[in-house]
Amino acid sequence: MIKVNRIVYAAFETPDLEGQIDHYTKIMGLTLVERDGDAAYLSASADHHTVVLRKGSDARCNALGFQLPPGTDLGDYDKQIQAHGLATERRSDAQPNIKDALIFADSKGTKIETFVEAEAANVGFQAAGISPNKLGHVAYNCTDVQGDVKFYCDVLGFKVSDWMGDFFAFLRCGPDHHTINLVQGAKTKMHHIAFELRDWSHIRDACDWLAKDRIPLVWGPVRHGIGHNISTYHRNADGQIIELFCELDRVNEELEIYEPRRTHQEFPQKGKVWDDIQLAANMWGTPPPDGFLD
Ligand SMILES: [Fe+2]
Repeated sequence: MIKVNRIVYAAFETPDLEGQIDHYTKIMGLTLVERDGDAAYLSASADHHTVVLRKGSDARCNALGFQLPPGTDLGDYDKQIQAHGLATERRSDAQPNIKDALIFADSKGTKIETFVEAEAANVGFQAAGISPNKLGHVAYNCTDVQGDVKFYCDVLGFKVSDWMGDFFAFLRCGPDHHTINLVQGAKTKMHHIAFELRDWSHIRDACDWLAKDRIPLVWGPVRHGIGHNISTYHRNADGQIIELFCELDRVNEELEIYEPRRTHQEFPQKGKVWDDIQLAANMWGTPPPDGFLD
């Protein structure tokens, strides 16, 4: 089975293209690499784009970009995806730096854009703004969490790292503890997009940077039990939640154990179902504000 190797970008529609570009450049410290009609491509550092913004009527995340392992034959991958009964589309012009992509929809309607090779932009890091290492994960509310977890595992090759009860799943496609989160909700929508920062002092500096623009945190800083990352959450110009995190668990894939951390509850720490929701959500105690998971 061909499995996706890593998440590369998230693509959004927005009624406020300039406001979102402002947030991702001036606040988040991404670089505006290219504007193509009503689309803007923004890079965190190594990839041509980490975030794509397109003018649209609604604020929503409509696509995710995943890189496949080097040497993958996209025709073989197409057959693998079609064997699941999914319609696919092969595109040579879907992205300015990706000449061959295979596109299909996931079980909740988000476009999955896969590719083997992409021209890098070699942008590097911005001196100003939060300037994250990379896109870490994207979390969704969904109406059929069990079905969507099955899709991500069976079709895309993800593995479940941890469950919070039976309603919140954390899935990985590489050594990072989670790349996709799926939480049962009343409707399907992106819940948050998360960027990896370098360390705890980088999170402090990021909070100070947000404070200069009077952008309040909506939750955090917290130490999640699941994943053991330190995180903060704020909103962008469209009101979508952006998480900034560091110290996320790393998984030894062969042994299915997490790299040892002082903050772990078990030694070795392994994937499990967390029944202690308070501990799973925030070891430091402060619960999420009302409605945070809606
Ligand atoms: Fe998250």
